[in-house]
Amino acid sequence: MPDILAMQRSLVLLKPDCVQRGLMGKIISRFEEKGLAIIAMKMIQVTPELSKQHYAEHVEKPFYGSLESFITSAPVVAIAVEGLEVITVIREMLGATSGLKASPGTIRGDYSGSRQMNLVHASDSEESAKRELDLYFGKEEFCAFESVAKDFLR
Ligand code: PPS
Repeated sequence: MPDILAMQRSLVLLKPDCVQRGLMGKIISRFEEKGLAIIAMKMIQVTPELSKQHYAEHVEKPFYGSLESFITSAPVVAIAVEGLEVITVIREMLGATSGLKASPGTIRGDYSGSRQMNLVHASDSEESAKRELDLYFGKEEFCAFESVAKDFLR
C-alpha cells in the first residue's frame, strides 16, 4: 500500500452465480462493512457484445467461450465502489481468482470453489476501472456520495 493513499473507484460485478445463489446481500454487506462507498448500482443482462468489451484482454484465450456463456447466462449486478486504494482493497477482499485457491476469510475463499464461478469480478488497475466503469455506467449515474465516504475512511 503506498504512503499517500488515493481515493479510487472500481467496477465490481456480482456475477451470475452470485445472483442465482442468492449471495448478493451477503457480498454487498462485506463491502459496506469495510467502509467502502457504493456510488452506483444496477442489475443488467450482459450481452455477448458487452462481454467481449469487458473481457477484451481474454477474448483470444481458450477459456473465453466458456466465460462468455457464463457471464451472459443470467443477470449480473454492476456496482461502482469508491474508497481509499479501493482497487487493491477489493481484490484482497475477493482473494485468488479461483475459489479453490482463495484463502478462507476472503469472499471467494468463503463461498466459491471454482475459477469460472468465482462470484465477483473487480477491476485490477485504475486504467481497467475507468474503462470498465464507462462500459456499465453513464457519468450521470454516479451519486454524490464522495464526501460522506471520505469522512468514514479517514
Ligand atoms: S488469466 O488467464 O490469468 O489472465 O486469467 P485470470 O486473470 O485469472 O482470470 C480472468 C477472468 O477469466 C476467468 N477465467 C476463466 N473462466 C473460465 N474458465 C477458465 N479456465 C478461466 N480462467 C479464468 C476468471 O474467472 C476471471 O474472471 P473475472 O470476472 O475477471 O474474475
